[in-house]
Amino acid sequence: MGNLKGKDILHGNQFSKKDIDAIIKIASNFEKELKKKDSLTLLRGKILATLFYEPSTRTRLSFETAMQRLGGGVISMGSVESSSVAKGETLTDTVRTVSQYADVIVIRHPRTGSAREAADAVPIPVINAGDGTGQHPTQALLDIYTIHKELGSLKNLVVSMVGDLKNGRTVHALVELLSLFQARLYFVSPGSLRMPEEITSGLKEKGVEIEETEDILEASNASNLIYMTRIQKERFADLTEYERVKGSYIINEEFLKKLKNKIIILHPLPRVDEISPEVDTYPGAAYFRQVRNGVFVRMALLAMVLGRIP
Ligand code: NCD
Repeated sequence: MGNLKGKDILHGNQFSKKDIDAIIKIASNFEKELKKKDSLTLLRGKILATLFYEPSTRTRLSFETAMQRLGGGVISMGSVESSSVAKGETLTDTVRTVSQYADVIVIRHPRTGSAREAADAVPIPVINAGDGTGQHPTQALLDIYTIHKELGSLKNLVVSMVGDLKNGRTVHALVELLSLFQARLYFVSPGSLRMPEEITSGLKEKGVEIEETEDILEASNASNLIYMTRIQKERFADLTEYERVKGSYIINEEFLKKLKNKIIILHPLPRVDEISPEVDTYPGAAYFRQVRNGVFVRMALLAMVLGRIP
């Protein structure tokens, strides 16, 4: 089994293929167990603390669900306005405090590098649930789990990543995992929202085949998976620039008709207008199945970092 006991989960590049195999196996076991029972007892007595300095629906609730389905308890800082953060407490002091109550911390924060800073301040495992435009490794792991389930394997992947590749932390983490499986990648974005150069060049050094384009249809027709993303409005210093690029790519019924083959469509959600609701009934539209998979993968990660894998 992958050895994540006592470890922090901070960056997509920290995982080996072996770790990913183990996570998929453990998550899939939990998925099977939860078909038989509502909840398990593996993490009874353990406490998870969630510290979210940025909005979240899925990530926080699925971590809390995962912990409770494993029999553990959850404490939450609540909103930034209602906590001592509003009084000016530093991140380090807050996590040091929380580590006196909890066995594992999940943190989301607007500053890139903040999760590592938190992890360095405390002896308990810290899980990065999104650090600004940096990384979102647990989302990437649930994406990989979903791809494995939807396509039956992680071999011969050709993935079109579409949208805000500059600011999207989910794609920044996912490419690290995909690079382990020799996936071929199309980066589809407006010119101003291209994947950061340091990420692209790092991937190319590892031998990953990448094509950058603005043409979603051409890329999709060469792919077996589309990973759609939201234009990250909150990261734009200049909102007129956001207005210029918003709605650059939209998957709707008309687009689906132009696809040559059936394709899997993923999206970390929330969506704004980049996938029309009419697409939801398309068999390859897997984004709500992806949401559910987040619970099993986060159960696996919590059980692993807390050293309670049987
Ligand atoms: C993503 C995030 O927060 O980075 N959401 C998520 O965790 N599922 C994607 C986004 O906000 O666009």
